[in-house]
Amino acid sequence: CRVVVLISGSGTNLQAIIDGAAEQQCPYEVCAVISNKPEAYGLARANDAGIETAVVNHREYLDREGFDTALIEVIDRYQPELVVLAGFMRILTPGFVRHYSGRLINIHPSLLPKYQGLHTHQRALDAGDSEHGATVHFVTEELDGGPPIVQAVVPVESGDTAQSLAQRVQVQEHIIYPLAVEWFAEGRLRMACDRAELDGHPL
Ligand code: GRF
Repeated sequence: CRVVVLISGSGTNLQAIIDGAAEQQCPYEVCAVISNKPEAYGLARANDAGIETAVVNHREYLDREGFDTALIEVIDRYQPELVVLAGFMRILTPGFVRHYSGRLINIHPSLLPKYQGLHTHQRALDAGDSEHGATVHFVTEELDGGPPIVQAVVPVESGDTAQSLAQRVQVQEHIIYPLAVEWFAEGRLRMACDRAELDGHPL
């Protein structure tokens, strides 16, 4: 299964997906990594792994449509079966989301539907939640609102800061994201009528 990964930053999730691909009999390969930021450290991770990279700098486009059209053009050169958002910090247009419908996934650092948007760790702490976590989901036109695929739950500990909590959540992200990519690559995962299904069963 050909996978293209979109990043904006450090790319620790990208690294976990690259590491997964290196394992024996892994059903997917990362054929390109694309960043909207030229300085994203994840680009170096891709280079180290011998994976092709590209930058589509959002600052060079007048509007979201222009940027997304350019992004689609670059992504589609690699003919991916799955497009993975891994810390990609741009909101995508409905046209982009429709173009990749059912083959576009994201990871969000909260137990969705809780805490869509930013500052999720601080919001979980402020709310006094006893549990927090991360969610892999199919991307639909609703921001952070697409059907969930897999979640990891992390207990909130007394004395946690947004940073300490984020660190523990990330450890779990690095487990569940490659897992979801594998399921998709094995043909076990799909989006049907705005629900995710694994082995034909609704998630
Ligand atoms: C992760 O916390 C992910 O949940 C969110 O952005 C962060 C990306 O981190 N979408 P990294 O670039 O994979 O290290």
